[in-house]
Amino acid sequence: MNILLIGGTGLVGSYLLPQLVKEGHEVYALTRGASKIDKIRDIGAHGILGDILEPQAFIGELDEKPDFIILLAMPGITPGKRISKKRKAALKAETIGFFRNSMDLAIQFNAPIILPSGTSYQTEHGETADETWPIRRAGLTQVGSETDEMVNRAVSTGKPKIIQLIYGRIYGNGGLFRSQYEMLKKNRYKIIGKGENYIPVIHARDAANAIIKSIEKKPFGEKFIIADDAPVKLRDFTNYMADLMDSKRPGSIPGTIVKMALGKDIYEVISMNCMVSNKKAKSILGWHPEYPSYLTGLEHTIKEMGENQPYFM
Ligand SMILES: NC(=O)c1ccc[n+]([C@@H]2O[C@H](COP(=O)([O-])OP(=O)(O)OC[C@H]3O[C@@H](n4cnc5c(N)ncnc54)[C@H](OP(=O)(O)O)[C@@H]3O)[C@@H](O)[C@H]2O)c1
Repeated sequence: MNILLIGGTGLVGSYLLPQLVKEGHEVYALTRGASKIDKIRDIGAHGILGDILEPQAFIGELDEKPDFIILLAMPGITPGKRISKKRKAALKAETIGFFRNSMDLAIQFNAPIILPSGTSYQTEHGETADETWPIRRAGLTQVGSETDEMVNRAVSTGKPKIIQLIYGRIYGNGGLFRSQYEMLKKNRYKIIGKGENYIPVIHARDAANAIIKSIEKKPFGEKFIIADDAPVKLRDFTNYMADLMDSKRPGSIPGTIVKMALGKDIYEVISMNCMVSNKKAKSILGWHPEYPSYLTGLEHTIKEMGENQPYFM
């Protein structure tokens, strides 16, 4: 199949791209970085230099019509930096642009599209959210509120055909997780509040495998929560990571200080308590995580991160 991959050089993309090539697909990976084109070619895919916010500038470089489009692009967020109102508005506009332009390409080429989202569900007292729960757009996740409407419209009209993957926090060698790793190594990482909130997590390889399964099964109009089997508290995940790195376990900062220093938007996202079920992805996609628990997944990841820099820098 011809696949247009938007965001193939990021955390999930760097696990997905070689896997798609291995599966025999002809992959066109979009990047804004000229230095990444050769690396993409070395994997066996076609690198396309361009920006999804300006699709007409790169569209001519697709030798053939894509049969599937995958959106994995994410606006740049610097960890530890305050998100001002102006920055939040810019992130929202960028996110809308990513979705609108990718979905327009899917309509233009009559190709289905896989779209990402996050497990933004607020659960309490041992509740477990599934795909029937409404997404809670709080804090920084509000940047995606209009894309929810775009996705809902596409589901009801079938234009374009979509599959939505709702990811827990993704860990692996790259992206924002690499920044967290570097901060922990320098003892500059802090847990916000008590860290008693549950967070859904997933290894980037398993996040990528859910895309491979979605291409195989084609359950158009459906959404799937992609998180592992082991709910974990933010503090336990972070302390375990620090132990594996032989780093000092991080201290915590009270939520009130974080709200003042970094803004309420970041606080709302980091402190959300969320437990989810991955049953639907297992039964319909036939997806089963290679790392069902962060215990083995993180052990493998920290070793990998100590040995190698991310492939796309
Ligand atoms: N990471 C998480 O914990 C998490 C959780 C839930 C959902 N998600 C979603 O899952 C997807 C994958 O996340 P990730 O962590 O792999 O992202 P990531 O590591 O931050 O990668 C971002 C990717 O976006 C590309 N990109 C950014 N702006 C672009 C633009 N204007 N035009 C074209 N490409 C652009 C980058 O490519 P170049 O720099 O090479 O151009 C890079 O490949 C994202 O959509 C994200 O929102 C992630």
